[in-house]
Amino acid sequence: MSIFIRGGTVVNADRAFKADVVCFGDKIIAVGDHLDVPAHATVIDASGQYIMPGGIDTHTHMQLPFMGTVAADDFFDGTAAGLAGGTTTIMDFVIPDPKQSLLEAYHMWRGWAAKSAGDYTFHVAVTWWGDSVHADMGTLVRDHGVNSFKHFMAYKNAIMADDETLVRSFTRALELGAIPTVHAENGELVYQLQQDLLKQGIRGPAAHPLSRPPEVEAEAANRAIAIANVLGTPVYIVHVSCAEALEAIVRARAKGQRVYGEALAGHLVIDDSVYQSADLEYARAHVMSPPFRAKHHQAALWQGLRGGNLHTTGTDHCTFCAEQKAAGANDFTRIPNGCGGVEERMAVVWDAGVNTGLLTPSEFVRVTSTNAAQIFNMYPRKGIVGAGADADLVVWDPQGTRTISAATQFSNSGFNVFEGRTVRGIPSHTLAAGKVVFERGQLRAVEGAGRHIDRPAFTSTRAA
Ligand code: URP
Ligand code: ZN
Ligand code: ZN
Repeated sequence: MSIFIRGGTVVNADRAFKADVVCFGDKIIAVGDHLDVPAHATVIDASGQYIMPGGIDTHTHMQLPFMGTVAADDFFDGTAAGLAGGTTTIMDFVIPDPKQSLLEAYHMWRGWAAKSAGDYTFHVAVTWWGDSVHADMGTLVRDHGVNSFKHFMAYKNAIMADDETLVRSFTRALELGAIPTVHAENGELVYQLQQDLLKQGIRGPAAHPLSRPPEVEAEAANRAIAIANVLGTPVYIVHVSCAEALEAIVRARAKGQRVYGEALAGHLVIDDSVYQSADLEYARAHVMSPPFRAKHHQAALWQGLRGGNLHTTGTDHCTFCAEQKAAGANDFTRIPNGCGGVEERMAVVWDAGVNTGLLTPSEFVRVTSTNAAQIFNMYPRKGIVGAGADADLVVWDPQGTRTISAATQFSNSGFNVFEGRTVRGIPSHTLAAGKVVFERGQLRAVEGAGRHIDRPAFTSTRAA
């Protein structure tokens, strides 16, 4: 029942300090110097290592039905892979079909997620508007621990939210004390650019980034921010991939608007040269939206994370195997959009961020865990190594190395966008809800051990 983590350096968002950590049941019960070892405790030697809050991946899509198929990693595969990489909580998305009841979709996703090995919580997408959506949003916030609603500004003729939906849903979210989030790409422009490329006979995966240039993302980011500004709501922009969208956030924040931004591990280190490969299966495997960008955008994203204009890191983990991606072999618009990363995010951000001096260890904790817990109201249950918090911890070996490969990953997709990258800084142990679930390469994920995390509404200035 007790775990004693001895002699590591605890890293929280505000400071790092030498301490022992004691867990009992699913909670941390003490953090301090030279603590007594409880009787019968399991002891983990953390000397020379960091003890950090378990990672929170703000953006995953396990088992997502999307573009005519279903994402390859289900909630067990995906959360287990996350635990192997030090991520103990995922924030996934309920995405109702247009005209489907939000509540019905929510219960469907809750059913799928029951097999999760790590903790999970849901953003709920608003893909259409009607009286029942207004009512369901209230029920989700009041009775089901949902405090964030997602809006896809892209994917025309599927799940795209038009401006009326954005305005009505942002307004409702404000009433309820929930935060609106957006996938910022102008779906009409994407659609027109896709049709133009197809008419010109440009059908391969290299056309994907041409149909979604940075300006398309920037337009939508600016529009979402402007709508939020007029309505007085905060807004969270998912997967910010380019300097132009980041600039929209920087401008708004400089004027005092409450705008938050998320970066993906993939966008931070992978560039758009992947789409030029003569190996079309390889190029298709990298098709996601927004696409990987020209290299100079990476420096902007790192600057955003360090400077506090981007707040969280996610992965958009949404894996499809080669056969699924082949559905778009003759038409890039039919390639299921999505890539993996839940297992690699922490190590990739550490290696490319902390080892290079771009981030301090505390800044790393902030952008991999604490900010997510605070923005989405899970703090201090999550996001901190402190007495009373969930015993979700990663013991981080800063000298340990791993060469990332699909051949050795726990994820189910058979492909890895970080293939061949050697990272220094990996988890030696992951604890989830007070259990050691990963120990030096051995994964002990238990199906169904993950819990749904309720996220209460924020204090609202208006009546619901
Ligand atoms: O390509 C992506 N990102 N697929 C998942 C759906 C989304 O846009 O987040
Ligand atoms: Zn998206
Ligand atoms: Zn996504």
